[in-house]
Amino acid sequence: MSETAAATTLTHPNSGPNSSRGLAEVDPRVWEAIEGEERRLRETIQLIPSENYPSQAVLEAAGSVLTTKYAEGYPRRRFYQGTQWVDVVEGLARARAGKLFGADHANVQPHSGSSANMGVYFSVLQLGDTVMGMDLNAGGHLTHGSPANFSSKLYKFVSYGVDPSTERIDFNHVEQLAKQHRPRMIVIGATAYPRIFDWQRFREIADSVGAMLLADMAHVAGLVAGGVHPSPVPIAEFCSSSTHKTLRGPRGGMVLCKEEYAEALDRAIFPGIQGGPLEHIIAAKAVMLREAAQSEFRDYCQAVVDNAQVLAETLLAEGLNLVSGGTDNHLILVRLQSDKPAGREAAQALESAGLVVNKNTVPGETGTAVNPSGIRLGTPAATTFGFGPEEFRQVGRLVARIVKDVANEDLQRRTADEVRELCAAVEARRQTAETAETADSHPPRVPVMA
Ligand SMILES: Cc1ncc(COP(=O)(O)O)c(C=O)c1O
Repeated sequence: MSETAAATTLTHPNSGPNSSRGLAEVDPRVWEAIEGEERRLRETIQLIPSENYPSQAVLEAAGSVLTTKYAEGYPRRRFYQGTQWVDVVEGLARARAGKLFGADHANVQPHSGSSANMGVYFSVLQLGDTVMGMDLNAGGHLTHGSPANFSSKLYKFVSYGVDPSTERIDFNHVEQLAKQHRPRMIVIGATAYPRIFDWQRFREIADSVGAMLLADMAHVAGLVAGGVHPSPVPIAEFCSSSTHKTLRGPRGGMVLCKEEYAEALDRAIFPGIQGGPLEHIIAAKAVMLREAAQSEFRDYCQAVVDNAQVLAETLLAEGLNLVSGGTDNHLILVRLQSDKPAGREAAQALESAGLVVNKNTVPGETGTAVNPSGIRLGTPAATTFGFGPEEFRQVGRLVARIVKDVANEDLQRRTADEVRELCAAVEARRQTAETAETADSHPPRVPVMA
């Protein structure tokens, strides 16, 4: 940590057990695990599209003394005393979320993207209502009606998918299902859909049957804020999101909505589904929202999308099969060519080679979620780390050579060495650039890690 950072680091008042002793001394095993994770994040390439490196400022807020405070309720309407400072941070987070996305109202208390969705359902739906959501195999999220999830146990979910030939959302099918089932709500958004969401087309379908729209922008919220993906905020009654993916914040969730639903939403989140809000995480969300409003964040989002294009082109040139033939956003879904589901083995082999992806179901899946036929890759985290188009070309070639020869452990070991060298070179380049910027007396660009 730099001297300036150390001087401004916020610490807990010196009270309570072990208060003057640091983590390394109090709990060496946890400290060691955190050190190990920092090393893993430095020496391997993070290609899971739902992950990112939050800034030092976000981490500092998330690790702050605000974790101490109980603050059930909302700013200036709390069930506890002593909330003047948490009111400041929650007020900032709400105002910044509203401004950044142009929303009437923001609730920043959901503990995760899943609780954000639950909060929306609880605010306007009755148990047993019909809702339409994207099928898990087509790219939808668990909370969009997966049989394993609360959503399908509390509501009658009808799933839509993608056209098997284009692997893009099949709007004719969506329309036909909407007319047939007349849902109260249609959920749009996905966890593994590499194309732009046509929010307006969904609006038209929803209007034709009197349904409300929930745009779950968990994956693309950062791209929306950065101006490289159309915004659903003027179009949908509700927009939910997690805050730790392309938005590059702390692990958590939030919901934006039209003014007329603000009260119902707030009541559904607290006291409906949650108790005391995590004010340290809300502070980190406030910091993230400030960072996402800077022009550097727009540049970052453009780089995320540009890098995804380069990665997709390289994988295609290497002969890999991409769902829908490519990507418009930050993520890529690879359908592995094999006579049996090969996602699990490929993801494990890639991890041994220092390339961290996740196994994933693909449209028309013949395997299972545990052993699916695809892998999912994305560019947000490695772009934050400093990877540019040239490195992503190299990453594409490395990924291809591993998935084509998954049993070759020697190749995995050699690739892991190459990856470590590549990461070190990129990190050194980024640090030089950051030092030059600091010397220029500008505030440092979003730093990656301590
Ligand atoms: C589209 C979508 N919605 C909701 C979520 C849930 O977010 P969380 O994991 O924070 O509950 C995810 C997470 O992957 C997602 O991709």
